[in-house]
Amino acid sequence: MKTLVIKGDSGAALGAELLQSGEIVAFPTETVYGLGALYDNVLAVEKIYEAKGRPKDNPLILHAYDAEMAEKVAFVDDKAQKLFEAFSPGPLTLILPKRDNVPMKVTCGLSTVGVRIPSHRVARELIRLAGAPVAAPSANLSGRPSPTSAKMVYEDMSGKIPLIIDGDDSKTGLESTIFDAKTNTVLRPGAVTKEMLEDCLGEKIYFAGLAGKDERPKAPGMKYRHYAPRAEVRLMEAGEIVDCISSGARSAVGVLASAEVKEKLSGLIPAENVFCYGKTGDLEAIAGNLYKGLAYFDSLTEVKLIFAQTVEEKGIGVAIMNRLNKAAAK
Ligand code: TXA
Ligand code: MG
Repeated sequence: MKTLVIKGDSGAALGAELLQSGEIVAFPTETVYGLGALYDNVLAVEKIYEAKGRPKDNPLILHAYDAEMAEKVAFVDDKAQKLFEAFSPGPLTLILPKRDNVPMKVTCGLSTVGVRIPSHRVARELIRLAGAPVAAPSANLSGRPSPTSAKMVYEDMSGKIPLIIDGDDSKTGLESTIFDAKTNTVLRPGAVTKEMLEDCLGEKIYFAGLAGKDERPKAPGMKYRHYAPRAEVRLMEAGEIVDCISSGARSAVGVLASAEVKEKLSGLIPAENVFCYGKTGDLEAIAGNLYKGLAYFDSLTEVKLIFAQTVEEKGIGVAIMNRLNKAAAK
């Protein structure tokens, strides 16, 4: 299959037609790119699982234009309404009781459904023209970093899907916060932080732990290896990276680190082996560049080990460290 890449509104117009004819389409959102199907077309939903190689027990989230559209597929109570008003459109997915019209193929048999109202203009145009919620996971092959540009989607999905809508780089760069309002639990940290949710609701919010082998994890996707580049990832502080490289660890090593570390390494390691993810402490920039950096090293076949600089776990730093830990998991 030939994969077209079309920008912006013309991409959204063609994308909506393809969705309505039962096809699947990659589209930009402010978090990461999604791979979408009309939520109630079971055959199209199956195509998503096939194209990604996604485990069959990992449910999809639904993307709605607004809370009114969300209400058509989920029960939106006062608390959910309040959260939508505070954080949507934007990077928050709410786990809500599903309505009967949501196929079991979307939720993998769960009685709940994840619903998000994205803010990216092109995503909104696509959903508006499609006229119904769009079921979409991230547009990567299962186990690979989520794509934050049309080019990254192309690398994983070329030949497998008819269209990639190009809406430039994703602004946030990490997947949405997933929040189960019933249990006040963050299932996946993102740009909407625990503190922001606590401020909005005036209640204590918890993080879900990784489920043990015999339990059903809170977010089914949490038990799978995620966000993994081909090379092994080792998490290190700035000083450790500089020490290791200075004392000779350089062949086959890639470094994903701040501008300050990159500068200290100049002359010690080939410049192309260092990917600068932003200035130290600029957590928004680092979140935005993280997956691009991990995917960059996949293109350097000689790199077998990546030294990744850790960040402070505050604000979106919690989400950055969550993804780095997953990338480093054996
Ligand atoms: O930012 C995002 O959320 C992106 C963009 C495209 O919107 N989407 C995304 O989808 O990251 P995906 O499929 O890669 O991650 C969705 C996660 C999975 O871990 C899945 O297990 C979890 O949401 N999930 C979906 N439905 C759920 C449910 N009913 N209960 C608990 N977890 C659920
Ligand atoms: Mg994903």
